[in-house]
Amino acid sequence: MNATRKALAAGLAALSLLAVSACGSDSESGSTDEVEVFTWWAEGSEKAGLDALVKVFDEQHPDLKFVNGAVAGGAGSDAKNVLQSRLQNGEPPATFQAHAGAELTDYINAGQIEDLTDLYKEKGWDKQFPEGLLDRLKQDGGIYSVPSNIHRANMLWANPAVLKKAGIEANKSYDSMDAWIADLEKIKAKGIIPLSVATDWTQVNLLETVLLADLGAEGYNGLWDGSTDWGGSEVKTALEHYSKLLSLTNTDRQGLDWPDATQLVIDGDAAFNVMGDWAEAAFQEQKKTFGTDYTAVPVPGTDGVFDFLADSFTKPVDGPNPKGTEAWLDTIASDEGQVAFNKAKGSIPASTTADTSSFGEYQQTAIKSWGEDEIVSSLAHGAATSVNWLTDITSAVAKFGSNNDVAEFQKGLVEAAEDNKPE
Ligand code: BGC
Repeated sequence: MNATRKALAAGLAALSLLAVSACGSDSESGSTDEVEVFTWWAEGSEKAGLDALVKVFDEQHPDLKFVNGAVAGGAGSDAKNVLQSRLQNGEPPATFQAHAGAELTDYINAGQIEDLTDLYKEKGWDKQFPEGLLDRLKQDGGIYSVPSNIHRANMLWANPAVLKKAGIEANKSYDSMDAWIADLEKIKAKGIIPLSVATDWTQVNLLETVLLADLGAEGYNGLWDGSTDWGGSEVKTALEHYSKLLSLTNTDRQGLDWPDATQLVIDGDAAFNVMGDWAEAAFQEQKKTFGTDYTAVPVPGTDGVFDFLADSFTKPVDGPNPKGTEAWLDTIASDEGQVAFNKAKGSIPASTTADTSSFGEYQQTAIKSWGEDEIVSSLAHGAATSVNWLTDITSAVAKFGSNNDVAEFQKGLVEAAEDNKPE
């Protein structure tokens, strides 16, 4: 999103807030039929995913009224700030989107969301979500949110027709960054954008996959628990690869958000895009056929690893409509909600009871990998670090995007780790 659209989106979000507080709800008396759901699924294929969920909510809870509190900006780049000021001002929505893992822990530690353990027991949700996922929603034994989906962040999307122009076979698998970079150079020589990327957070998403490729799952995990040295030579190699990759991307990246970067591949203006599998929804929305019009394989060097993230929904402390919140969480956990939403969103259900037989070809590959692969936590999407640490890494990434100084970049990342690493 460019600056003007951002300003417009922020203005619209503020207006919709005013509208929410001015009309309909009767929160002072504690009774309201409105359920404001705060997400960043504001546009395009993400909005289509949310719409699919709302349709199920409307069917399951005809007495309640969904109110869309979405704030645009991929990965919550703008939404999270708006949400924080609302929470601090005592104006929480009925429920908000939060990533499973360290990001959720931030809200728990700040006392901003309720423990849902009793609700989990009452509804039997504790039996329907995988143990490993539930662990990422827990703190001191309590469970704090309901997961709607599982996304994979280490995917490489490609346009086979564009690759053909550069003499590169479709679906080619690369076992290292160097092998892939050699082909990207060939594409560049043809005057085609080798790799599309967008604004800061998509660069962080790219960086995390390069770290994963070069350090391996164990080394990558060690970045978050202190056992891998951010100042070491392996990280340096990864940053050099990242630097090379960035030089092979579209120069207008800062003005774009993820849909624009993925669109460059869909339109045949770029060969590759590294993006989480919400990109699948964009290809599907435009009626593209998996395997023919586009391909998706793990980022080179990350095969066998599932770079995980999950969206989940919370019950804010002192929320405006506790019953409405529970109704939304009910829809999230229901098989109907999980199937409708994930089919449209490109993700896979978080619940083990949802029937995925009607899911598309790409999603079947994700389901298989989720079951077999090693799982690691996504950096750009709240699973690996606190919001503060991610913000500091994002600043270092943004700075590097303009000065291209690898040594300073690494120093910035070392400092970010020192300032934020959990005790
Ligand atoms: C969210 C996804 C979303 C993506 C791009 C991620 O952080 O988990 O649901 O599609 O950002 O906005």
